Amino acid sequence: LLFTAVALTQAFAQDSDAWDQSHFFTWSPPGPDDVRAPCPMLNTLANHGFLPHSGKNISEVDTINALSTALNINQTLGEFLFRAAITTNPMPNATTFSLDNLDRHDILEHDASLSRGDFYFGDDHTFNQTVFDETRSYWTAPVVDVQMAANARLARVHTSNATNPTFGFTETGQEFSFGESAAYILILGDRVSGTVPRSWVEYLFENERLPLELGWTRRKEVITFPDLIDLLERIVNATAISSQQTTKMIKREDFHTGL
Ligand code: HEM
Ligand code: MG
Repeated sequence: LLFTAVALTQAFAQDSDAWDQSHFFTWSPPGPDDVRAPCPMLNTLANHGFLPHSGKNISEVDTINALSTALNINQTLGEFLFRAAITTNPMPNATTFSLDNLDRHDILEHDASLSRGDFYFGDDHTFNQTVFDETRSYWTAPVVDVQMAANARLARVHTSNATNPTFGFTETGQEFSFGESAAYILILGDRVSGTVPRSWVEYLFENERLPLELGWTRRKEVITFPDLIDLLERIVNATAISSQQTTKMIKREDFHTGL
């Protein structure tokens, strides 16, 4: 408890508005009627109550406020992510989404996830330790950098390509795949060096909880769309290097392999 209190004091030392938001202090896993996503961060925000704990009927205001209050993501990036999210709601003209809408394959959800199995194997949304252990094995030092993030993502693409006969990325899926690897560095770590403590990333994925007790604090600088694109491009470039060195891939028509 003391540990958490110290972390929280640091988190809010320069951010008195955020003191109003007690959700950093609360966390509970989903109950039997709650729904969750293939996204470790949205699940985390629901577990803390930054998003509705039910995971259901999440509005644009809910999304923008949660991403800003918990993670210091700005309104433009929040709006972009919300607009992507509502495309997964099967109801026409929906103004909300539920976390399990995000499971729908090949809208945003894609193959070769870092911690979930491919849709082909039957469950594209529940945390899968075997899959995540493969990812983690490429995070070869206590501080994960852009190259390790690229290597981990690419390894998962190779494994899916080798084992899943339906493997493929839509264009959006490929962009999200790179964006997600960028996101864990950007939101948890240091955008300039492109690094993040491995323990913080593992904690987020494995517990679906913000790694406050490990010393993480809400980033002090506001996080924007260009910040995400910058890190995404660095991961793409690092992937091109490891891909040239190690792979020769077959590209399926109409699909992007992400290599
Ligand atoms: C995965 C949606 C915010 C980090 C995903 C996936 C979806 C998604 C659909 C599944 C993709 C897949 O692996 O097949 C969203 C939406 C967001 C959001 C709609 C906001 C409204 C965030 C934020 C972070 C984040 C703020 C910051 C760390 C990740 C990561 C994955 C992921 C690391 C990859 C999980 C894996 O590969 O196993 N997200 N996300 N997401 N998301 Fe989010
Ligand atoms: Mg997936």
